[in-house]
Amino acid sequence: CRIKKATKIVVFSSILIFADTRETGFVNAITSAGVSFSVTKACSLGSSISCYCDPTKLPDLNITDRWEWAGCDNFQFGYLKSKEFLDDWFRKRRDFKAMLLSHNYEAGRLAVTNSMRIICKCHGMSGTCNLKTCWHKLPHFRKVGDLLKKQFDGAVKVMAGNDGKRFIPEGATIKDPRKQDIVYSEESPNYCLPNKKIGSLGTRGRECNRTSMGVEGCKLLCCERGYDTMVYTIERDNCNCRFYYCCKIKCQICQEKRTVSRCF
Ligand SMILES: *[C@@H]1O[C@H](CO)[C@@H](O)[C@H](O)[C@H]1NC(C)=O
Ligand SMILES: *[C@@H]1O[C@H](CO)[C@@H](O)[C@H](O)[C@H]1NC(C)=O
Repeated sequence: CRIKKATKIVVFSSILIFADTRETGFVNAITSAGVSFSVTKACSLGSSISCYCDPTKLPDLNITDRWEWAGCDNFQFGYLKSKEFLDDWFRKRRDFKAMLLSHNYEAGRLAVTNSMRIICKCHGMSGTCNLKTCWHKLPHFRKVGDLLKKQFDGAVKVMAGNDGKRFIPEGATIKDPRKQDIVYSEESPNYCLPNKKIGSLGTRGRECNRTSMGVEGCKLLCCERGYDTMVYTIERDNCNCRFYYCCKIKCQICQEKRTVSRCF
């Protein structure tokens, strides 16, 4: 269980060092998503974790044909283990900071649950699909990350409610956060310049996109300091490959131009 310990340390340090910004929320959500994902994966590979596929827990499918349930990936088990493991140490703490953390952990686990796919395979006479076999399939973790990145962009700023048991949305956000939303309570610091205290490396030297108006665009990313654009020529030696009978493959060397902008 070395991995478990390492994760715990990461979780601890993230709460000790960082304020409850949008970025912290994202890190916490993707941490718990990672635990949930890994346990589910380990479970379906049959690695030493005592888990099983529960055939009685059928998904909510609207399939009118006859079908069978073929079990794994058992994401409910991954979900529960992640919850047990991560939420364990602050079970007794119910302050605002712990509530934020607990909410973002849940958002991460839900990102895994909501990315699960149901795959069905048809049997029977060709194309008739008289009988289906269905199972849950884990997505690539990339997909979970993309989903969480979306939640990061739409994260909800909250403050503590009077009863101390719930959050209320703050500022421009009107809606209450949903379970799958990332929440935060403090504005992000300025990441433009290096600042060890907040773990910022600054944006000097970062590659940026000249035409984008988003955060990856040079205008925002370089914090108005400007940027430098260089054109590189790259040689690729496995290009326009052709097969000659028999049996040779000949390739050309191609030159490609790549334009790269970097922040001052
Ligand atoms: C199931 O599918 C049928 C036909 O497509 C539809 O009429 C019905 O509303 C669906 N039921 C649910 C619970 O989604
Ligand atoms: C740069 O941004 C533009 C506009 O958003 C986008 O179409 C393009 O694919 C981006 N280029 C790269 C290299 O990401």
